[in-house]
Amino acid sequence: MATTQIQIFDTTLRDGEQVPGCKLDTDQKVIIARQLDSLGVDVIEAGFPISSPGDFNSVAKVSEIVEQATVCGLTRAVKKDIEVAAEALQKAKKPRIHTGIGTSDSHIKHKFNSTREAILERAFEAVRYAKSFVEDVEFYAEDAGRTDNEYLARVCEVAIKAGATVLNIPDTTGYCLPSEYGAKIKYLVEHVKGIDKAILSCHCHNDLGLATANSIEGVINGARQIECTLNGIGERAGNTALEEVVMILKQHPYLALDTNIQTKELYKTSQLVSKHMGIYTQPNKAIVGSNAFAHSSGIHQDGMIKNRETYEIIDPKEVGVTDSAIVLTARSGRAALAYRARKLGYELTKLQLDVVYQNFLAYADRKKEIEDTDIHQIIETSNVYQQIISA
Ligand code: KIV
Ligand code: ZN
Repeated sequence: MATTQIQIFDTTLRDGEQVPGCKLDTDQKVIIARQLDSLGVDVIEAGFPISSPGDFNSVAKVSEIVEQATVCGLTRAVKKDIEVAAEALQKAKKPRIHTGIGTSDSHIKHKFNSTREAILERAFEAVRYAKSFVEDVEFYAEDAGRTDNEYLARVCEVAIKAGATVLNIPDTTGYCLPSEYGAKIKYLVEHVKGIDKAILSCHCHNDLGLATANSIEGVINGARQIECTLNGIGERAGNTALEEVVMILKQHPYLALDTNIQTKELYKTSQLVSKHMGIYTQPNKAIVGSNAFAHSSGIHQDGMIKNRETYEIIDPKEVGVTDSAIVLTARSGRAALAYRARKLGYELTKLQLDVVYQNFLAYADRKKEIEDTDIHQIIETSNVYQQIISA
């Protein structure tokens, strides 16, 4: 079966950076952009150039240094925004302008005090104007998740007529169920005239914890780009996590959807983003959290020591994590203790292990996690220590 390539559009430097307190300066954006380029993302959304002189400068610098990826700048459907973005992107090898407007009835009424027909005109004008600066223009229909499908199809047709190369269908408020978002993409694939001239893009927010599931449903139903951020950071509950969608597609080859991501760079990139943004990644975060490959219960540890695949679906090395971790706690069993003791140079017989294990449990009930130094002490203070070292 032929594999279809899904474009990864990274918006860590734009939507990700909208997290309060996480603003990045130009040097930080450049450092992260270089790493995103090595990671193999197809598009880097570097910022919103009209928003501040600092962000203009960041998009300009990122445009200069990125070698492989397309560099993209966000705009509203406003002429001045588009002019400023075009200027910031001037040095990009592959520039893209990302322009758009709210299309749900709620946005049309409350944000713009406008009408559906007038929004169609603004969408057309914005794309056509952006097209006068760059060939590659992506159009976003903000709040597409809550936009009625028939009208959304008309918006997409207008954007294609004006020359859009990518149609972004954001679930801006993270409202959709996966089945609903997938059906929306399918509807657009089947009903938008001229859809073969553009690709559909998923841009999902995580307000209900469904951003990753929605993006995957989107590509299963015909979208060809996913917009995402490292560690899933972004406005409110965040965006689709890049590392999650990439590894889901890799772990399910029968979907025949692949990406250009160098997965061994994932952990390093996640750490870099976390450091510069000053946001700590939750330990249980899929793929990149500190516990993603850590095993602490006795039953799991026993299985892992016998064969890693009993409790891990991904080899940690595939995502750039050196090894799985066997964490010793009061819930650990003899197998894990013997395994760690062996790594520290102690070969325990079954009887010695029984004795040391009782010491270990008493110790572990007082302490949350047992380190290597604790193991030395547990063994040294046991009454079988002399036997162990003289063997
Ligand atoms: O969530 C959203 O709708 C966006 C658009 C500006 C693309 O971030
Ligand atoms: Zn967004």
